[in-house]
Amino acid sequence: MIEHDVIIVGGGLAGSRAALEIARTDSRLSVAVVAKTHPIRSHSVAAQGGMAASLKNVDTDDSWEAHAFDTVKGADYLADQDAVEILTKEAPDVVIDLEHMGVLFSRLEDGRVAQRAFGGHSHRRTCYAADKTGHAILHELICNLMRYGVKIYDEWYVMRLILEEGQAKGVVMFNIQDARIEVVRAKAVMFATGGYGRVYNTTSNDYASTGDGLAMTAVAGLPIEDMEFVQFHPTGLYPVGVLISEAVRGEGAYLINAEGDRFMANYAPSRMELAPRDITSRAITKEIRAGRGAFPDGRSGGPHVYLDLRHMGKEKIMSRVPFCWEEAHRLVGIDAVTQPIPVRPTVHYSMGGIPVNTDGQVRSSPEGLVEGFFAAGETACVSVHGANRLGSNSLLECVVYGRRTGATIAQYVQTRKLPDVDEQTYLNWAETRIQELIDRPGQYRINEIRQAFQDCMTDYCGVFRTESLMREGLEKLAELRKQAEQVFLDDKARLWNTEITEALELQNLLIVGEMILTSALNRQESRGAHCREDFVDRDDTNFLKHTMAFYSPAGIDLQYRPVTITMFQPQERKY
Ligand code: FUM
Repeated sequence: MIEHDVIIVGGGLAGSRAALEIARTDSRLSVAVVAKTHPIRSHSVAAQGGMAASLKNVDTDDSWEAHAFDTVKGADYLADQDAVEILTKEAPDVVIDLEHMGVLFSRLEDGRVAQRAFGGHSHRRTCYAADKTGHAILHELICNLMRYGVKIYDEWYVMRLILEEGQAKGVVMFNIQDARIEVVRAKAVMFATGGYGRVYNTTSNDYASTGDGLAMTAVAGLPIEDMEFVQFHPTGLYPVGVLISEAVRGEGAYLINAEGDRFMANYAPSRMELAPRDITSRAITKEIRAGRGAFPDGRSGGPHVYLDLRHMGKEKIMSRVPFCWEEAHRLVGIDAVTQPIPVRPTVHYSMGGIPVNTDGQVRSSPEGLVEGFFAAGETACVSVHGANRLGSNSLLECVVYGRRTGATIAQYVQTRKLPDVDEQTYLNWAETRIQELIDRPGQYRINEIRQAFQDCMTDYCGVFRTESLMREGLEKLAELRKQAEQVFLDDKARLWNTEITEALELQNLLIVGEMILTSALNRQESRGAHCREDFVDRDDTNFLKHTMAFYSPAGIDLQYRPVTITMFQPQERKY
């Protein structure tokens, strides 16, 4: 059996930052990161626009309090304000720390870190590295992991969290290359497994974003928080769905409909294109529904609107958002210097996740905590984003709460012994599961069910929701779950059999989808990204609370947890 003091699942920003903190704090600790891709291919590498922090390099009247207020208002008052205070207070320090590590942030003329405007932020506070910020930060962190001797298991897929008697003891993982199974025991387990964008058919997320950590946690009997809050990024490149960064609007681009109108004037007149994402995504969807979207040939009545950069000029486009220009050029043949880019909302981010306290320790219920189990980043819900995250607060959360959770773990393991784990039981369980998948005669290919599932979630739990639509979605999902038990693998070998991973991911996607739909059905109000056409108002009397969804194969049980309100009383949210 493999043994480490700490095992971290997920090699993106939150996991890497935590690993680095643990290794820096106590070099005697054995720290390992497991990732199903190489860590530098984690989805954090695709983060573009930047990371918010009130450094005041551009807007001198900015403050952490202003950042906190914007975050809470953006969250439609569902964020826990103690967690937001930590996030926004620690933001300047984590940026400087990254800068000292060697991260190449873009600069002002005088050499200080540059900052740009972003949606829902009242000041220019987003630090960036052109439009490749995640790439710049993640590469530096991974170099540091090597420097500090953190063990990296890349292309290992974690199949199970070992949780016994309310205590996390390790994980079961298999090697994607040769299907070798290993049990790992550890004094602390941390999940930093990212989001679940692949639950939907149009997403900015990479193929690996299948919600594995969420599903494994749910299957272990632990709650998952606020899953109804799914963020649609307003500007996914049509038709592929990849991200065209909000930074493009931060640098001055317009959203226009097929008639050439800057329609945001009708939805958020004071913020225009820099309204928060929930509002902007709804505005685009309404324009398309009203027949003011465009077709690729320019006719009106089509499925997308346009992001217009033409007035920005070539030099600004190429220096500030070169990657977005390249995406549009390579993927849909558009030269954004002379042509508007076709865009529409794309699934981007999960506000919900594994519930944790502000030290990253996982909650077992509205009141309790799990021994030895921690989480941070998109997979966790601390909750700093509430019902709607502001752009550029996600990289920030990964780094602030990755560092914080790492610091907690480094102390936590000092007084813990390696837990007892019956290795053979878990090896047998994993071997049976994989062999059963390989041997199963089955009726359906994995991609048939996955596509039908993604269409179901997109059609029945998208930007706008109603009870009847979601009930229909849950019925379809129940049918798909049965069909998923009948998937077969074309590839019966064990060497580089990516179908094994895909089959396991499909199970996870289905669990995550059911938690989203069930949590959304029960929240009978509209708040942030959760927009009910049958309950159009926010309802603080009945729903100013976090959902805690407990999964079991027989169904999902919902409990609720209060929101922590310290600085800002809920108000009407207007932009
Ligand atoms: O639009 C973007 O660059 C995305 C940033 C974010 O999600 O924080």
